[in-house]
Amino acid sequence: MVNAYLDIGIQSRMNRIINSKDNRVVMLAIDHPYFQGPTTGLRNMSNTITTLLPYCDCLMTTRGAVRSNIAPEDVGSKPIMLRVTGGNSVLFDELSDEKLTVTIKEAIRMDAAGVAVSVYIGSANQQQTIINLTEMINHADEYGIPVLAVTAVGKNMARNLRYLSLASRICQDAGARIIKTYYCEEFSKLVDAVAPTPVVVAGGKYSSPPDALQMAYNSVQAGAVGVDFGRNIFQDDNPIGMIKGICAIVHENHTVKEALDIYNAYLPDACKLD
Ligand code: 5RP
Repeated sequence: MVNAYLDIGIQSRMNRIINSKDNRVVMLAIDHPYFQGPTTGLRNMSNTITTLLPYCDCLMTTRGAVRSNIAPEDVGSKPIMLRVTGGNSVLFDELSDEKLTVTIKEAIRMDAAGVAVSVYIGSANQQQTIINLTEMINHADEYGIPVLAVTAVGKNMARNLRYLSLASRICQDAGARIIKTYYCEEFSKLVDAVAPTPVVVAGGKYSSPPDALQMAYNSVQAGAVGVDFGRNIFQDDNPIGMIKGICAIVHENHTVKEALDIYNAYLPDACKLD
């Protein structure tokens, strides 16, 4: 059916990011060095990306990583969610002081499927980061590029339903096309609060295969379209088993037990990433 109101550019890129058949996505987050520098699992970032790219649906990463760490033959093989904010480092306590770092023209030149902006609701730089989001949406909308808003959580914020729903709803209101946030109790209420905007769940610090798979399972069962995990994949001793297990949960509605069986099946070939 032809929808005269559909923004074709946005929809086309959304379909590259989120599988239009099952409305799910396994996004792989490899953007950490933009404020963390060398990170466990990403010390040889080219190797990490080459190893895991075939198994994800979309790679969330930075301009520098696209330029330096994606093998020429892999360029264009998966949609890129390009991080376009930064300006801080872990050497500063207050991480919220971010600005836009990449222009929309550069994102288009790099063939990004979408661009990602972090917002720090309730932080010292709340207004600046919301304006980063709205400015990028103003630019990106002109060219049909979807913007993913990341609800980054400052040290003093609780990762609970109240806070995360507030932050996510503000991102939706700004015009974000996808929201990345953290999992919390009663997560389905957050998904409902921002419906129909799709929600992907962030991984957070490395935990353990059962815990990370359980979080992926709980997230999609509660209505998330998928996950955007980083450290819980690339810092695991068996990163391929981990991402395969997550794909089984997200795309095939497998249980955590079934996903762990998939994870374990890859253990003999486990390849720890530097
Ligand atoms: C959260 C981010 C990070 O840069 C990163 O993507 C987090 O990934 P993970 O927590 O799964 O390692 O977007 O602010």
